[in-house]
Order: sequence, then structure tokens, then C-alpha cells
Amino acid sequence: MKAFVKSSLVVGISMISLHVAAASGASVSPRVAEIVASRCALCHGPEGESASAVYPRLAAQHPDYIAKQLKDFRDGRRKSDTMTDMAKDLKDEEIIGLAAYFASKKAASRQPGDADFAGVGKFIFQRGNPYSGVPACTSCHGVNGHGTQQLPRLAGQHPAYLEIQLKEFTKRERTNDNAVMHTVAAKLTELETRAVAIFIGGLQ
Ligand code: HEC
Ligand code: HEC
Repeated sequence: MKAFVKSSLVVGISMISLHVAAASGASVSPRVAEIVASRCALCHGPEGESASAVYPRLAAQHPDYIAKQLKDFRDGRRKSDTMTDMAKDLKDEEIIGLAAYFASKKAASRQPGDADFAGVGKFIFQRGNPYSGVPACTSCHGVNGHGTQQLPRLAGQHPAYLEIQLKEFTKRERTNDNAVMHTVAAKLTELETRAVAIFIGGLQ
């Protein structure tokens, strides 16, 4: 019975592996396709569209940002119960390949969230909160939330993941490069945090 379960798992994984290789064209190395299929796809999806809202979407994220985060997970700078283990044996060239793979995927279309929350969120995103000193998110992450090579794309990210990260920045529990985002996130109220996350989640 155990042998059967194991062999059907192997067949399953190698089928995803073929799918990943076929879907991504010739530029993806077999090793990268195999890592995606056997490891990352489970949570982030073969196309970088995570199944669960607590796993970040990776599709269309900037490659340099993805690579930086993977190195930080691997080298223990960004602490994570899940990702530390996932990244611990990745070689630099595999990280670069994985980053290029997910960055090349198109972001799937997004649905706008609760309109009342999104209205408050849009104000925060575009204008910040001048009364409490929250800066506009657009001033760094761009008018559409598409980010830059050094700054993450936020557009269309799962609101639940965004909220978790903003709370981690507030408490400095996101351990790598939190200086800038700590000063931003610590000024957001809980309502503003949820609202801005809902608005960003609906951006294309
Ligand atoms: C068991 C689920 C799981 C698997 C498998 C997994 N991840 Fe993750 N990943 C997460 C979670 C959860 C986070 C959010 C970080 C945290 O809170 O720990 C994350 C975060 C990330 C981030 C940071 C994204 C951002 O926006 O900052 C990257 C990049 C990433 N994962 C890439 C990968 C790659 C590449 C693989 C395969 C080698 C992989 N992950 C496998 C669950 C998973
Ligand atoms: C002064 C520039 C600046 C401003 C303003 C700013 N950010 Fe950021 N943000 C950053 C930087 C830099 C990072 C990347 C941190 C890192 O490298 O780990 C980041 C990362 C993030 C992340 C983590 C993304 C991920 O994929 O894990 C979230 C979420 C975020 N910012 C939300 C916001 C929101 C919401 C606002 C507005 C209320 C905002 N930021 C305003 C600079 C800024």
C-alpha cells in the first residue's frame, strides 16, 4: 500500500513536471522545472498563482525581488516557518532560474474586493493618511502598484498575505530589510491595513 502511494506520488509529480516544462517553453532548465513541480507548485501554483490566500502570488513579480527574498530565506535573513526549509538547499543559479520562471508568468485577472473597504484603501494607497503621517504607497510602489526591480509588485496580491506582511513589518517580525516598511506600516490602523490590502488585491 505504502509503495503504491509513493509510486503514484512520483507519477503525479513527474506529470506536473512535464506540464511545467511544456508550459514554460525551452528557456526553463529541467532542474528549475523539476523544483517548481516538486516543491513550489504545491503552494504557489505551477503558474505562480497561489491556491491559498496566505501564500503570496509570484506571477509577474520582479525577478530581482524574488531572487533577493529566496536568498534571504535560504541564508536566514528573512525568517519563515515554511520558506526557510524550502530554500535551504537552493543554489544561486537555481534561485535565478526560479525567479525568472515565476516573473515571466502573467498575472491572472483580479476581482475588486468589498467596495467600501476598497474606497478607503484607494485613498490610503494614492494619498496616504496626512493626519497620521502615512505616505502614499504609490510614491514607492508606483501608481498601479507594479513596483520596480528593487521594490515588490503589490498589484493583485492576496489581501490576506498583504495584511500578514504589514503586521509583520509593524512588529519587525519580517526580519529582512524592514526599516522603510516598518515606518510606513506602524502608522496604519487595523482598518487602514485591511482596506489598503483589499484595494491592492483588486489592482491588475
Ligand atoms: C508549503 C507551502 C510553500 C511552499 C512549498 C513554497 N512556499 Fe514560498 N512561501 C510560502 C509562504 C507561507 C510564504 C510567505 C512567507 C512567510 O510568511 O513565511 C512564501 C513566500 C515566498 C516568497 C516571497 C514572496 C514575497 O512576495 O515576498 C517567494 C519568492 C517564494 N515563497 C518562493 C518559493 C519558491 C521558489 C518555492 C519552491 C522552491 C516555494 N516558495 C515553496 C509557502 C510556500
Ligand atoms: C518609502 C518607500 C515605500 C513606501 C512609501 C511604501 N513602501 Fe512598501 N515596500 C518598500 C520596500 C523597499 C519594500 C521591500 C522590502 C524588502 O526588500 O524586503 C516594500 C515591501 C512591501 C510589502 C511586502 C510585499 C511582499 O511581496 O511581501 C508590502 C505588502 C508593502 N510594501 C505595502 C506597502 C503599502 C500598503 C504602502 C502604503 C501604505 C507602502 N508599502 C508604502 C517601500 C515602500
